[in-house]
Amino acid sequence: SESKLQLIQRHIRAFPDFPKKGILFRDICPILKNPASLTAVIDLLEEHVRKNHPRVDVIVGLDARGFLFGPPLALRLGLGFILVRKKGKLPGATVSVSYELEYSKAEVEIQEDAVAAGQRVLIIDDLLATGGTMLAACELMRKRQAEVLGCMVVVELRDLNGADRLKPHQVFSLVQY
Ligand code: PRP
Repeated sequence: SESKLQLIQRHIRAFPDFPKKGILFRDICPILKNPASLTAVIDLLEEHVRKNHPRVDVIVGLDARGFLFGPPLALRLGLGFILVRKKGKLPGATVSVSYELEYSKAEVEIQEDAVAAGQRVLIIDDLLATGGTMLAACELMRKRQAEVLGCMVVVELRDLNGADRLKPHQVFSLVQY
């Protein structure tokens, strides 16, 4: 019978030339639309965390699609969830990190009181490409003296070497292209 991984793979679509020419966009919307495949994603992530990071204190998710997978995983683990947002979306005192995109700069931030010093976190997003966004999130955690145990994504685009850029942080991915 079909494995959980096969079920997940079957619910990721590829769109050529989106959002611009030359980019093959991996769309995870079908996973969310199909409860069995979303359950399979959370099952496999939960298994990974329980086996490798049993001491994790909190799950950190990246704007915007990390917000789709982070909270259900956090609930499974009985943990809280923290939002890393694009600049200007969070009220109150925030901490931010800026990073380079292909032709521009981006900035992500957390609320200053989101994580406590010494907390052990796992960061989750839907997809790892160049790793720039994930690296900025790691830097945010470092600024708040939280310990990043690892990074998790549903999809990893291997050609872009994001995992190398994130070293020594570990990247766990379910599906690789
Ligand atoms: C995509 C993706 C990751 C990031 C990965 O988000 O969901 O968050 O890019 O790219 P990187 O590894 O090269 O940093 P996007 O920027 O499209 O934002 P969105 O989730 O708000 O649509």
